[in-house]
Amino acid sequence: MLPRRPPPPAPGPRGPRPAAPPLALLLLLALPHAAAAPAGPGEPKAPGPRLDTRPPRGLLQQAARAALHFLNFRAGSPSALRVLAAVQEGRALIYPNKGCKVDLVFTTEHYNLEEGKGHLGKCSAQVFFKNQKPRPAINVTCTRLIEKKKRQQEDYLLYKQMKQLKNPLDVVSLPDSHGHIDPSLRPMWDLAFLGSSYVMWEKTTQFLYYYLVQLSSVKQWKTDDDTIDFDYTVLLHEFSTQEIIPCRIHLVWYPGKPLKVKYHCQELQTPDEASGTEAPTEL
Ligand SMILES: *[C@@H]1O[C@H](CO)[C@@H](O)[C@H](O)[C@H]1NC(C)=O
Repeated sequence: MLPRRPPPPAPGPRGPRPAAPPLALLLLLALPHAAAAPAGPGEPKAPGPRLDTRPPRGLLQQAARAALHFLNFRAGSPSALRVLAAVQEGRALIYPNKGCKVDLVFTTEHYNLEEGKGHLGKCSAQVFFKNQKPRPAINVTCTRLIEKKKRQQEDYLLYKQMKQLKNPLDVVSLPDSHGHIDPSLRPMWDLAFLGSSYVMWEKTTQFLYYYLVQLSSVKQWKTDDDTIDFDYTVLLHEFSTQEIIPCRIHLVWYPGKPLKVKYHCQELQTPDEASGTEAPTEL
């Protein structure tokens, strides 16, 4: 085949095109440079947020986990606990010196896998992480995993099982040393998970990620009123520091009512603070 010769530049209606105006050229040259250069001492700071259409995967996952802690707490429903399946898309607005706002879409699955096999829910969320500060601000909406009516029935069933629990104060740890949770104690574990979601949401930052490893003791389990009054200690694992943090949680739950939670976590102590004596905070 003969190489094709490119056609000659077509002349415009009034002869050859004029050269690009020098101003446009200058702007083109200046743009990439301006974006990369850090603001010098005398220059004004960049005013608005910067849009990142491909934020790091870790940031999106962190935002999804925070949104789920918040969602689980707000739903107040131990039969509808969700965990993250996968992040589908997301973008971030970076506010210099303030924090970042993540907009994302992710899928979830039922925490109790036997119940929710193959059932994926889809959520969209906006999560605002303030620099270094915990308790991100969150808006989240999800498609329903199970019908509202069915969920209410399941919650009520769990509630009745909880009311019939015998000697829950003897529980030493859940899961036990073999990683097992007795089926009769499962509702109690789910309720402990629900209360922990609130604590984990409040403690989450852009960089600190907590998950529940163990229910380590039950201080009180009262079911003589309508409500379930549950005072317990959990161990939370912080992923980036690998710290294990004991948190004492007191919750009051009744199906269909907002969950009430109070807690106190043992703070990580620096050597200086560790030498002082400090009274434990009353719950
Ligand atoms: C959540 O929604 C409210 C009302 O639309 C809005 O004012 C707030 O900024 C949103 N928060 C986040 C983190 O996007």
